[in-house]
Amino acid sequence: MNQTDTPRRVAIVTGGIGGLGTEICRQLAAAGRQVIAVDLATRAERIEAFRRELADLDGAIAFEPADVSDFDSCQQLAARVEQQHGSIDILVNAAGITRDASLRKMTSQQWHELMHVNLDGVFNLCRNVVEGMTARGFGRIVNISSVNGQTGQFGQTNYSAAKAGVHGFSMALARETARKGITVNTVSPGYCDTPMVAAVSAEIRAQIVAGIPVGRLGSPADIARAVAFLAADDAGYITGANLPVNGGYFMSF
Ligand code: CAA
Repeated sequence: MNQTDTPRRVAIVTGGIGGLGTEICRQLAAAGRQVIAVDLATRAERIEAFRRELADLDGAIAFEPADVSDFDSCQQLAARVEQQHGSIDILVNAAGITRDASLRKMTSQQWHELMHVNLDGVFNLCRNVVEGMTARGFGRIVNISSVNGQTGQFGQTNYSAAKAGVHGFSMALARETARKGITVNTVSPGYCDTPMVAAVSAEIRAQIVAGIPVGRLGSPADIARAVAFLAADDAGYITGANLPVNGGYFMSF
């Protein structure tokens, strides 16, 4: 996608050095955006690998540390990026964790840790970028949900609840911002070739792949393509939508 005819948009990608986030950063940078990959500062080894992997896009992708589960950290991040780059035009909330366990075994800690990152994190970032987007009259927010927020998954009451919540949040914010040039959408990935899915037992993973009509796990590039599409300047009439990218694993309309 060629974005050279539009202003150089500044994009924040949370979970930016993660399984999906890295590729989202790459595709947004390739589309001409100034990208800020956001992740925990503590992931030093991964940050170094990320820098090596994306060396060809040096300059188009910067790294900023922040904890999405911490409101103050997100507020400081937004202020730093706006000061250094002038604006935040695109926000992709891709930070997410799993704490899989059937409800009978799930601890309160597993529930709350997941909610803090996967749902509070979306609030914390959106809350701190929406004023600037409103003032400038332009914004693209893409929240990464999941097929498991649509269908539920054994062992994921926490994750499924948070991901369904992300879509409800996105629809509500889409209504609040529609007249301000801001779109808010979700992308719902299916099972992708990422460390998160690799952590599922081989037996369960094989059963899942057997149920995917396309016959394979998704690639991070499959997801990033959908994100880049929704983040484009000319995607202004798509808002409050969910774009499923799941190889046909769950079909609905
Ligand atoms: N479906 C149906 N039954 C299941 C089951 C499943 N997936 N997993 C376990 N069971 C059954 C067992 O056969 C057993 O039955 P019996 O009591 O009759 O023998 C019972 O449930 C065991 O229950 P437990 O609470 O002891 O389950 P467990 O601890 O063995 O396994 C689990 C729980 C590890 C969470 C496992 O269910 C699992 O791995 N589920 C899949 C989780 C998953 O898909 N995570 C996705 C991660 S990737 C991601 O989230 C990205 C994305 O967006 C797609």
